[in-house]
This record gives sequence, structure tokens and C-alpha cells, in this order.
Amino acid sequence: MPAQVVLGAQWGDEGKGKLVDQLAQDSDWVARFQGGNNAGHTIVLGDQVLKLHQLPSGLTNPNCQLVLGAGMVVDPWVLEEELDRWKESSNETPEGERLWISERAHVNLPFHRLYDGADKKIGTTGRGIGPTYRDKIERVGVRFCDLKHRREDPNWLTENSARMTSQLEAHGVEGEISAADLKESLDWVEDRFGAAIKPTGLMLDLALRQGQNVLLEGAQGSLLDIDHGTYPFVTSSVTSRANATHGAGIHPGQVGEVYGVVKAYTTRVGHGPFPSELFDEVGAYMGEMGHEFGTTTGRPRRCGWLDLVVLRHSHRLNGFTQLTLTKLDVLGGLDELEVVVGYDLDGQHLSEMPACAEDQARVTCITEKVAGFAHMDTSEWLELARRANSEGVGYSALPQGAREYVEKVEAWLGIPITSVGVGPDRDATVFKV
Ligand code: GDP
Ligand code: IMO
Ligand code: MG
Repeated sequence: MPAQVVLGAQWGDEGKGKLVDQLAQDSDWVARFQGGNNAGHTIVLGDQVLKLHQLPSGLTNPNCQLVLGAGMVVDPWVLEEELDRWKESSNETPEGERLWISERAHVNLPFHRLYDGADKKIGTTGRGIGPTYRDKIERVGVRFCDLKHRREDPNWLTENSARMTSQLEAHGVEGEISAADLKESLDWVEDRFGAAIKPTGLMLDLALRQGQNVLLEGAQGSLLDIDHGTYPFVTSSVTSRANATHGAGIHPGQVGEVYGVVKAYTTRVGHGPFPSELFDEVGAYMGEMGHEFGTTTGRPRRCGWLDLVVLRHSHRLNGFTQLTLTKLDVLGGLDELEVVVGYDLDGQHLSEMPACAEDQARVTCITEKVAGFAHMDTSEWLELARRANSEGVGYSALPQGAREYVEKVEAWLGIPITSVGVGPDRDATVFKV
């Protein structure tokens, strides 16, 4: 059976964690393939809320193997915090048992986080992601398989601690990294996680050849992609389908289903162009009803209408085979909804996203209006979803306006919407019949 891929189709926070958790109940493996602890993936099981930053969202299935793939930048100190929290609630220590870190993944060191902390331009998560990828591309990074050699190499420790200190100074960040500090960091990581460092690409390839069920969990979203996003206001990795297999250490032919996760409206955290952003009470309503605060940083998310230009761009890059439309419940209570169908740039009609951030920031949106539907509270939506699924009636259980919205989006994009999220809980999803 080929691997399945879950990707964010907008600017992140579409609800990938919830879908991965649902799919992972039938998965043998879940692998992250890019990004790091800039991600914040939420899983809600009744009263229990899990916010995962690096741990794959297959965590709640005890039979699921978990991989931090080669394309990731892993912060071991944050990983330890995540594992401590998980141990508190489950009493399990998966590292070296079913949690595996790719030997080729890069180590996000305290230096990287310090450096990123000075960012003012992009509005990064401040987690050291860009600086760790920069060191990777400059070929001065430390991979997990390198730890044991680097920590025994006094010349390397001296040279690299000096490089880090001078880069911090040049960047206006206080802090000095000595060779002893660097050695201490590498020693700690190797001692703490050595048993979990594995050739995870080989393990995933073998699992696939044995017919096991492998799920590749994307982080961020297409518009945050380093090559095809709203550069420079993007993250530092390739977030697309093309990197799902590459970052996991397998080949593109090993993929079957590609799920695009699409929020029923649009949000973005951090700086950068956002054509459909609303600055009025409708945007505030989405933010309030959708609890739109960053999972990683707690920053308020900017909100706006669903944007088909964004989604067409995302689909071209990823070739989604199906979509999950999330947070439809949040739009309940708005009389009328709008969907962006194109842009206007200086009188010219655009149906595609322009490449320059300056143009992206200048476009005005051409929208179509769609009827709204009534507000219902979280427990009503949850009950509706459970009933729709148990009775096998699918979208016909949705209020008329909600159903029409789903059908219109599906028709506009020409991609099947196979499930619709109507609340944060794992069960609050209506599946298509
Ligand atoms: P991710 O980064 O793509 O995994 O998404 P986040 O977890 O950062 O943000 C999505 C937020 O929306 C989380 O708080 C989820 O619990 C919540 N959520 C997911 N799906 C739905 C849904 O269908 N309706 C509502 N109301 N909330 C949802
Ligand atoms: P998930 O996986 C939303 C944004 C940051 C910033 C830009 C660059 O939860 O969807 P970085 O720290 O990556 O260098 O920041 O990218 N960003 C995200 N926005 N969801 C995410 O992840 C994000 N990860 C990074 O806010 O604008
Ligand atoms: Mg998130």
C-alpha cells in the first residue's frame, strides 16, 4: 500500500493534526518530513488537548511507529519537554521504543534559537528554524549522526563555537557560546536520544514494501513554502508533496492519497501579504469563534475569507487527491459568506498568485457571495457529526447553507471534499458518503 500524505493548503494551522490523528488510528507509521517545532498540531479527545510541535500526530495510537524524518530540524530540548508532557498523561516513554529520529535530521541548537530570537522582519516563531536550515544549506550544520564525532573533535568545537559567537554578535544578540557549552549540548543530545537515532528512510521503505500503512505528516502550509510561498514571508523548508517523500527518505512513487487540509476561511500568523484578510467585525468574529491564536506562540492569527487563488496555487504544487474542509462550524452565525475567486492588480484580472510580495500585498480581491447559516454550539455540532456518521447520511446532515458552501467549494476547485470539520474534537468531522 502506498504512503498517504497530509498537507496544509494555506498558511498553516488548517487542522492537520486533527486529520493525522484520525487517520493514524489505522496507521502503522506516522512520519514528519520537514520543519521543526515551529509547528503546533492540536489533537482534541474529549477533555484532553494535546499540542504537538515535533512529535508526530500518530502519538495517541500506541501501535503506531513515529518518525522525525531527515528533512526536519529537530530541537532536542523541546522534544524532551514534549516527551515529559506525554509521559505525565500516558506514562509512556516512546523514544527508542517507537519514536525514531532520522540520523540525517539536523539538530536545532541553542545558538539557532538565540539567533532567530532577534527576527523582527518575518515574524518567525523564534524557534531557530531558519538559522538551522541556513547552517544545513551552508554545510556547517550538525546532523544527529554527526553528534558522536563532533563532540570528540576539539578543533571543530573551537571553530564552530567561535563562528556562532561572532554571528550572534554581528546580529546584535547578546550571548557567547564557548567550546565547552557546545560540547555540553552535543553530549546531552547524544546521551539523551542516542538510542532513538536510526536510518529512518530505510525503515519506512521496508515498512512500505511489507505492505504497512505509512502516513506522512506535513507541517506549515503551501503558502509558507520556501520556493512557492509568499517569499520572504515564509518558513525555511519545502512544505509540499514533493518533499514529503524526499524529507522522509523514500521516493515520490511511493505515495497514493494526498490530503489537502483547507480551513473554511483563511488565517495567517506572522507578517506578510494576505489578500483576503479582513480588518472588520467579520474577521474578528472568525478569530473569536475559531479561537485563532497560534498553537506555538499564542499570537493572534489574522483572519479572512476563503481564497480560491491560494487553493489553486496549492493544488498545482501538491496535486491533492482529496480535501478536508475544516472549521466550517466557525462560519455559523454569519449572514453572508464571501469566497475570493480572483484578484485585481492595477485593473488587471489575476486568477493566479503573483510572485512578488509587493504585488501580493497590493492585489484587491474579487469575491462571490454565498448564503450563510446559523450558529450552533460546539456540542450541537459534535452531536450532528456523530449522528451523520453513524446513520451514514454524510453531508445531508449539515444545515443547508453549510452544505451548499461545501458543494460550491468542491465544484470551484474540482477536488473531492471527503470530510468536513465541525469542531475541534476527533469525532467532530462529517465524512462524505
Ligand atoms: P495544524 O497546525 O494544521 O495542526 O492546526 P492547529 O492545531 O495549529 O490549529 C487548528 C485549531 O483548530 C486547533 O485548535 C484545532 O483543535 C482546531 N480545529 C481543528 N479542526 C476544527 C474544526 O473543524 N472546527 C473547529 N472549531 N476547530 C477545529
Ligand atoms: P503548523 O504546522 C502557521 C509561520 C510563522 C512565520 C513564518 C516563518 O502548525 O501549521 P518560522 O519560525 O517557520 O521561520 O516562521 O512561518 N509559521 C507558521 N504559521 N502554522 C505553522 O505551523 C507555522 N510554522 C511557521 O508564523 O510567519
Ligand atoms: Mg498549527
